[in-house]
Amino acid sequence: MTELDGGGPSRLVARVSRFGDVGAMVLAREPVRPPRGTEVVVRVTHASLGATDLLARRGGYALQPAPGFVTGYDFVGELVTESAVSVALGLREGARVAGVLPRMGAHTTFLTLPATLLVAVPDGLDPASAVVLPLDGVTAARALQLAGDARRVLVQGASGAVGMLAAQLAQEQGRTVVGTASPRSRDAVAGLGIPLIDHRDADWPALVREAAGGAMDAAIDHTGSPRVREALRERGILVHTAFAGRAGHERADTVRGGAAAAVSRTDRVCSAPLYVATRRPEYRRVLAGLLASAASGSLRIAEPVPFPLTEVWDAHRAAEEAAPGRKIVLTMR
Ligand SMILES: NC(=O)c1ccc[n+]([C@@H]2O[C@H](COP(=O)([O-])OP(=O)(O)OC[C@H]3O[C@@H](n4cnc5c(N)ncnc54)[C@H](OP(=O)(O)O)[C@@H]3O)[C@@H](O)[C@H]2O)c1
Repeated sequence: MTELDGGGPSRLVARVSRFGDVGAMVLAREPVRPPRGTEVVVRVTHASLGATDLLARRGGYALQPAPGFVTGYDFVGELVTESAVSVALGLREGARVAGVLPRMGAHTTFLTLPATLLVAVPDGLDPASAVVLPLDGVTAARALQLAGDARRVLVQGASGAVGMLAAQLAQEQGRTVVGTASPRSRDAVAGLGIPLIDHRDADWPALVREAAGGAMDAAIDHTGSPRVREALRERGILVHTAFAGRAGHERADTVRGGAAAAVSRTDRVCSAPLYVATRRPEYRRVLAGLLASAASGSLRIAEPVPFPLTEVWDAHRAAEEAAPGRKIVLTMR
């Protein structure tokens, strides 16, 4: 830890000062919390900036109900202190590591955290590419896990950061996949070789069924649209990754949708943060597998678009308009 500021190690953080537009972001300097017990300190070199960060900044993210938090769920960095647990996991000082946080806070230069959140980044995978994967990849993998043994799977927003990965993982698992994508996004996902239905078409659920040759067994959806059910067979599984279909209503829709899903036999809520918090070894296996697939080239990942953390405002603006297949990445050095 070298960022000395008046004697103690310090870190730079990108914080949401109030809910609102890009101007709500502030950069602040604060002390690095010393590690406790088997915690470690990571010098963050890259962190992704995606849809959830924008939603949280605007105040629509149910898991961040009050401003004042540091954005960012995933990161890549270098281990600057090791612990008995990190060593047991094969992670020593200097190791290149990636991870997802159970709560936001990755848009910073240093993290103090449990070593069990970390996996090694494979050699040959550059950090800016690696960092587009942890949150979205773990979400996609978990969503498919919740879809059980569904054979035909609808992936809503197949051109999106989560959707593109979910579509590929589902195909790899031998499932039949149909995706939705608007015309602006089609080119970005045409290479996946799955049928793509325009979600703006009035008959899109029927078109999904037609493309799959029958009703879908499961859907992975981030919109919360009741019309998703029309594409599903009776008692088909509906996995919710978000309830983001009505701009400005996301928080209320999440609360309502989550409550309804909790008592439903067919709806499931996929939360990567909860998964990371509660199933640590499984999460690490999943993330390590995703990084290995990206390193080998068998998993197509979003193209990173780097911005220095010190230009977080430009990064947020760019994320608001990111082209399909691209992901904004904050760089810390
Ligand atoms: N549950 C979790 O743990 C978790 C983790 C990560 C992200 N998320 C959430 O998941 C959602 C998606 O995240 P992301 O990073 O993949 O976002 P993203 O990259 O912005 O992708 C969203 C996609 O949805 C498509 N879309 C827009 N309107 C649609 C509609 N009505 N029907 C179907 N598709 C539509 C968009 O493309 P086109 O309109 O061009 O087709 C876009 O490709 C966000 O709300 C995010 O907060 C949840």
